[in-house]
Amino acid sequence: MFSLINKSAVITGGGSGIGRAIALLFAKQGAQVHIIELNADAATGVVEEIAAAGGQAKAYAANVADQQAVVAIFKEIGGVDILVNNAGIAHVGNLENTAEADLDRVYNVNVKGAYNCLYAAVPLMKQNGGGVILNMASIAAHVGLTDRFAYSMSKGAIFAITLSVARDYMPDNIRCNSISPARVHTPFVDGFIAKNYPGKEDEIFEKLSKSQPIGRMGKPEEIASLALYLCSDESGFITGTDYPIDGGFITLNN
Ligand SMILES: NC(=O)c1ccc[n+]([C@@H]2O[C@H](COP(=O)([O-])OP(=O)(O)OC[C@H]3O[C@@H](n4cnc5c(N)ncnc54)[C@H](O)[C@@H]3O)[C@@H](O)[C@H]2O)c1
Repeated sequence: MFSLINKSAVITGGGSGIGRAIALLFAKQGAQVHIIELNADAATGVVEEIAAAGGQAKAYAANVADQQAVVAIFKEIGGVDILVNNAGIAHVGNLENTAEADLDRVYNVNVKGAYNCLYAAVPLMKQNGGGVILNMASIAAHVGLTDRFAYSMSKGAIFAITLSVARDYMPDNIRCNSISPARVHTPFVDGFIAKNYPGKEDEIFEKLSKSQPIGRMGKPEEIASLALYLCSDESGFITGTDYPIDGGFITLNN
């Protein structure tokens, strides 16, 4: 079960956190992994980890917001069976604390970056007779979070993009789903705690852990397991669906 042998899988933001865990697991399951990453050193590190474990992977240094660069990379890769749109950035602020530049930055990476990869990958999947797409949304797409105006906007868009693509490309044998994690302990979380709450890191870490009714943050490997299921043939009946993976955040926070 859950074999990805002979599958070519593109993972954006695969150099860190959730993307890294997905890249490692997909390679372990036999996929040829292609990591598109802004941070070339991080991506190379993950490729080396995969190679050391006997897997196959390649890194491509690029900003997913750059359509020309993204299209060129997908041309180089050739056949794509699986696309995981994972690269994303955060912004903390309500509407009034979100400057135009903040909104544009979050939109360009989280929304346009996903669009660029879909734009490049879908024609290749059609040529191949099908494929699977997994987009990284967030609980921010489903509930009102304090001070996450731009981020929520971007993840709501990811949720809607997922439905649109799933509908339009069903006849081409392309499935498209999304995952909505609550807080997952990654460098993304450590980075934003350090930036936004200097000197209160431990207190905020504890608070963020408790905001999941289950009492802790998720692990990147737990998100990767769900990603593997949704990108494998075993989930062949699932398309146009979002999966919360949130320690009860959406339904049990009462
Ligand atoms: N960690 C969480 O709590 C959490 C919760 C819900 C959703 N998510 C989403 O999961 C995804 C991964 O988050 P993470 O916590 O693993 O983050 P992370 O910061 O640990 O990793 C993100 C990776 O994406 C890369 N990246 C950023 N901008 C890029 C760009 N423009 N082009 C190419 N690569 C780029 C970074 O270099 C980094 O390696 C994001 O979309 C995030 O919004 C995270």
